[in-house]
Amino acid sequence: MPDDPMTRRDLIATTAKAAAVAAVAPALANATPPPGSPRPVAVSSMNGIHAVKLAVERMSGGASPVDAAVAGVGLVEADPEDVTVGYGGLPNEDGVVQLDAAVMDGTTMRAGAVAALERIVHPAQVALQVMRGTDRILLVGEGALRFARAHGFPEKDLLTERSRKIWLFWKENESDHDDWLPEAGEIDDPDIQWFIKNYGDVDFRPHGTIHLSACDAAGRLGCCTTTSGLFFKMSGRVGDSPLVGAGLYCDGDVGSAGGTGHGESNIVVAGGHTVVEFMRRGSSPEAACVATLERVVRNTKLDYLKDAKGRPKNNLLLYAVNRAGEVGGAAIWAGERTKYAVCRAGSEPQLVDCAYLFKRDN
Ligand code: GLY
Repeated sequence: MPDDPMTRRDLIATTAKAAAVAAVAPALANATPPPGSPRPVAVSSMNGIHAVKLAVERMSGGASPVDAAVAGVGLVEADPEDVTVGYGGLPNEDGVVQLDAAVMDGTTMRAGAVAALERIVHPAQVALQVMRGTDRILLVGEGALRFARAHGFPEKDLLTERSRKIWLFWKENESDHDDWLPEAGEIDDPDIQWFIKNYGDVDFRPHGTIHLSACDAAGRLGCCTTTSGLFFKMSGRVGDSPLVGAGLYCDGDVGSAGGTGHGESNIVVAGGHTVVEFMRRGSSPEAACVATLERVVRNTKLDYLKDAKGRPKNNLLLYAVNRAGEVGGAAIWAGERTKYAVCRAGSEPQLVDCAYLFKRDN
């Protein structure tokens, strides 16, 4: 990789340069704890505040990090209130919920994944089964569903009434040049208002997903990413989440990382793997996430993906833990939702502000 690992001073210098053109705030927002900080530890996207706690409890009870990660994210997969993951996740453009998930075990360097999987609440568990029960890594669509059925996973309609209404609202309002017409008063529906309050109404297609990286008391590592993907995605579209090296990556000698947000931006920098490589070369988890996001900024070439100041319009968030148990997280854009969840043995989980590259001008 051409980039040098960033020291704290390099990082501040880099962000100071960028500030001249784009109102960049200091990137190292949060000091990471020193080596030897309490383990087990789990770090995740902010929707994993309960997941990190469960993951740490499981590791304290002897579970491996990858099993603990899958247990933790299972809370979010089963929660219909989270419309970005699992049951109740927002569907694709045809109104069908298609889920992506992957796991990786840093001790064995094995991985498993499923993509465009329908009707199964816990795709992360299916990914774990792919890792342990096959010598393949990624199963998609109908094949993934048949594999899940063969292993006895129960089937369920994943589209909740709330998610159906949000999808239909999007369908009817996305364009005035198609055959779908807005219905009078539908914007006042409590479920539509709930969505707008939580996700805004600017493009109506924000991103979700949960990534969780876990490190046990012995410094062993594992991770998992699971999602219903980009809201109203093209049928069959697969994002970064189930792609080992992009949505997640884990190396038992170094650390574990993964991302949430605009999947295509993460795929083209192999974000999870790149964060781990920066950590391998000495960067802290937070600095590694920032350096990877700076690469995303440099690699965003297409005009329609950039704002008037040349910055990526889409957000991407990265999270990481190293073998020492240090954690970090960073986002391209600062905002209300740009936090990460962390839990350590003996402590309650907390939300921490991500480092970031840019802040909206208003
Ligand atoms: N990061 C989730 C997705 O793009 O589908």
